[in-house]
Amino acid sequence: MIGIFDSGSGGLSVLREILRILPKERYIYFADNAFCPYGEKTPTFIQDRARTITGFLLSKGADIIVVACNTATAAAITTLRKEYPIKFIGMEPAVKPAALSSRTGVIGVLATAGTLKGSKYLTTKGLYEDNVKIAERVGKGFVELVERGVLDGHEAEETVRLSLQPLLDEGADRIVLGCTHYPFLKDVIQRLAGPQTRIIDPAPAVARHLLDVMMSEGLIREDGGPALPDITLAASGELDTVRRLLDSITDGSD
Ligand code: DGL
Repeated sequence: MIGIFDSGSGGLSVLREILRILPKERYIYFADNAFCPYGEKTPTFIQDRARTITGFLLSKGADIIVVACNTATAAAITTLRKEYPIKFIGMEPAVKPAALSSRTGVIGVLATAGTLKGSKYLTTKGLYEDNVKIAERVGKGFVELVERGVLDGHEAEETVRLSLQPLLDEGADRIVLGCTHYPFLKDVIQRLAGPQTRIIDPAPAVARHLLDVMMSEGLIREDGGPALPDITLAASGELDTVRRLLDSITDGSD
């Protein structure tokens, strides 16, 4: 069984990509929405939450865990890998594909404060910043919008514009979504940024990496699996919005 967690509903954008290539596995998704957002919390706090959630997912039968949260990956994945004898798949900041494909030589990264301060992001950034200018902004209020299920409309546009416009003003023609909540606002981001701007979500690459690891670990289901996605939901807070977003990614209407 594949365990997945995030501070809230954002990790469902990663589950959506995983389901495209692994539709027959069993899943348990944990939304830590009583403690969301993680963006400004300390690494120690996030590590404690990650341990508690990992314990829960293991108790339900998870044999591999996707940390479907850039902030939790930055704060806790090294600790988790040291403390538990299973594989953890984390989020990668998609700076490389953005940097290699940019025509203006400027890329924009939208992420939480925790991710932008993390050593993984800073190391990746260091590899490319001699070749492209990397502009960054926290997507202020994006996570809260998604947690409330507000994915489009006037409020979403105004909130997104405030963080996105400075990146566009600096000349960015690639926008990296460095937080798993942000793909749920992709339509708004694309509309405001215009068709010449490419929005880059690392989730498909993370899903492919999960598939590779599951194959090499012998974790792929042999019995053909269920006809419909087999997904158990759990949360530290209320489940309604999480369930609605899950329905929207599994009914083919996304
Ligand atoms: N979705 C998470 C991320 O990828 C966490 C956002 C938050 O809780 O601040 O960073």
